[in-house]
Amino acid sequence: MVFLDGIRLNRQNVITISGITSAAFQFHHSDLFSVHFDQHLNFTEMCGIFAYLNYDVSRERRYILEVLFNGLRRLEYRGYDSAGISIDSSSVAGAVRSPSDPPLVFRQEGNIESLVKSVYQEVSATDLNLEESFSVHAGIAHTRWATHGEPAPRNSHPQSSGAENDFLVVHNGVITNYEVLKQSLLRHGYTFESETDTEVIPKLAKFVFDKANEGGDQTVTFSEVVLEVMRHLEGAYALIFKSRHYPNELIACKRGSPLLLGVKEFAEEQNNGTSYNEMNFISKNGHPKELFLSSDPHALVEHTKKVLVIEDSEVVDIKDGGVTILKFDNGKRKDGKSLSRPASVQRALSILEMEVEQISKGKYKYYMQKEIHEQPESLTTTMRGRLIRGGSSKRKSVLLGGLKDHLKTIRRSRRIVFIGCGTSYNAALAARPILEELCGIPVMMEIASDLLDRQAPVYRDDTTIFVSQSGETADTLNALEYALENGALCVGITNTVGSSVARNTHCGVHINAGSEIGVASTKAYTSQIVVMAMVALAIGADTISTKQRREGIIESLLNLPGKIREVLKLDEEMKELARSLISEQSLLMFGRGYNYATALEGALKVKEVALMHSEGILAGEMKHGPLALVDETLPIVVIATRDQCFSKQQSVIQQLKARKGRLIVMCTEGDAAAVCGGSCRVIEVPQVVDCLQPVVNIVPLQLLAYHLTVLRGYNVDQPRNLAKSVTTE
Ligand code: UD1
Ligand code: BG6
Repeated sequence: MVFLDGIRLNRQNVITISGITSAAFQFHHSDLFSVHFDQHLNFTEMCGIFAYLNYDVSRERRYILEVLFNGLRRLEYRGYDSAGISIDSSSVAGAVRSPSDPPLVFRQEGNIESLVKSVYQEVSATDLNLEESFSVHAGIAHTRWATHGEPAPRNSHPQSSGAENDFLVVHNGVITNYEVLKQSLLRHGYTFESETDTEVIPKLAKFVFDKANEGGDQTVTFSEVVLEVMRHLEGAYALIFKSRHYPNELIACKRGSPLLLGVKEFAEEQNNGTSYNEMNFISKNGHPKELFLSSDPHALVEHTKKVLVIEDSEVVDIKDGGVTILKFDNGKRKDGKSLSRPASVQRALSILEMEVEQISKGKYKYYMQKEIHEQPESLTTTMRGRLIRGGSSKRKSVLLGGLKDHLKTIRRSRRIVFIGCGTSYNAALAARPILEELCGIPVMMEIASDLLDRQAPVYRDDTTIFVSQSGETADTLNALEYALENGALCVGITNTVGSSVARNTHCGVHINAGSEIGVASTKAYTSQIVVMAMVALAIGADTISTKQRREGIIESLLNLPGKIREVLKLDEEMKELARSLISEQSLLMFGRGYNYATALEGALKVKEVALMHSEGILAGEMKHGPLALVDETLPIVVIATRDQCFSKQQSVIQQLKARKGRLIVMCTEGDAAAVCGGSCRVIEVPQVVDCLQPVVNIVPLQLLAYHLTVLRGYNVDQPRNLAKSVTTE
């Protein structure tokens, strides 16, 4: 038994896992820090973390750097205001117990390319040999979207325990009790250089390590240090630790934030990268292999498809070519004190269902451009296997495997409540009319944060539908927790298998749109609408009176990819339109009925990426305020495609023209003369069934936003101050 300053380590037992002998420890209550785990895990900092460890596979320093940089490039869409890496200064293959030279740390404000440039500049200014080979080496990397402290090298990760870089940490998440920990560490003489919550973690690791080794004999293992650190952390995190005291070893752990381990093993006789171990478990200690840790599968897929999804409270120890997974159990003892009981786990590897092409730009210059243009294919995938064409004896129908057992409950519910944020909310708004029509159930719309701010009533007989591309948006998850507490049926509509929305809802539908990397959501939006239209068809499937209508919609769904292919031909025309709007301050978009959502989403795209003020306005509200803005200079898009609101929109156009409005009218092919008599700019789009028209109509507006952004010289994939997945409140 080892006594620390308030921390007692009690050696309990020894467990053998995957051929590795590992000491497991039981840590008891600490007097130094209060130990309390909060249950709210949704305050994650929007960053990307990555690590690369090569074991018994010779890699040059330059290669290692490039793997780390590439990993960060793949994660950059998650955060791009600063980045950093840590690598070894010299090869320490044999140094098992004695500390190696302090690892090198490079951190830089700005995007990944700024980091790459600064690293190579620093390297050329020193005698660091890029050709030096390492048969074993552990490197860590981080890309950041600042929440605590401005983007600056000192606030970038890896965060360090101090001058000697004894412990280095990359972190995705937020430590909610960092102030308390910081105060305690300050009292113990630690000094802090950053404003981050993360900095307490490596310092705490050093504190634990130093105390454990006060006798001078280093017996505490790296995983024991991390387990003890974890015990004091509140909030959400995925962490990767590197230490000069444990050369060539990495420890990763997580609570709340996603983390994956990628495994690329080489056959015993060859390690040239061509032959893999076909086993579904990580092979025994000592085999040549490359191991990757990443907060996102995008950074793994080019190396390996064999992954292990690390679960909450697991601690992964990568050492000597083996992987040990310990489960950190923070249960309570009978006396109410905290108890952490690490136990071993062995789990099979999963196979990533992702292709490298999905995450590369292919022939396109930007992800947003690619994702707009691949909508015919993404919509086809969304509908694949879910539409039954019918025939002489079979009726046209929809089959949603994830909902079929819950349809009866949904039909009996008193309300359907859509809950989401941003584009996902807009998609639900676009689908609302068809749900109301086919299901005959009142459909409410809720922006997740607003539902929570109001603590609005949610009942047991409600069906709540959570719409989220990522499935990780903090507000949406908090609203989901709230709906679950209130006993509602919770349905998820998400693009991300295994996401928090997918896991925590009672049932749902994956939209299967493929990876969406551009921060501005495009293909996920159209796939979400299509899925919700299919949900409406499935719920309303038992109503005889709407049979013909449903069959018409199914027919139109089957033809939809072709119509999207047609509307994409407007690309050049939209570029021209963008050119004419390039120096405008503002752009209004008027829509109603099915296309109110189109106006909101079109405006959201323009403001998100083109950094131009844009508002989507419900045309029915025009006279109640917005009309005051109309003059001959302000450009206004009016959506006036054929549906039951068409004549009302014609009247809106007349009124705007009467006030000399500068109009751009979106109309159905062949309607140009009818809608504005040749006196305004038109965007003619192919016609589909009214409830699916928003899927077609949004495409020219996505193209407009894209071209406006590029022409105005902004970064279309990484808009200012935004992140793909907003995992903080
Ligand atoms: C499923 C398979 C698909 C397979 C098909 C064959 C998965 C992820 N999907 O698709 O690969 O081709 O069967 O019939 O394995 N769910 C939620 N919440 C959500 C989203 C989904 O609970 O937010 C649940 C669903 O209720 C369902 C499961 O996840 O139980 C899979 O959903 P989904 O992929 O939409 O089902 P299928 O289309 O049937
Ligand atoms: C962020 C994204 O704001 O989150 C948007 O930049 C997205 O594109 C919104 O619409 C909601 O995200 P999700 O993943 O819940 O659909």
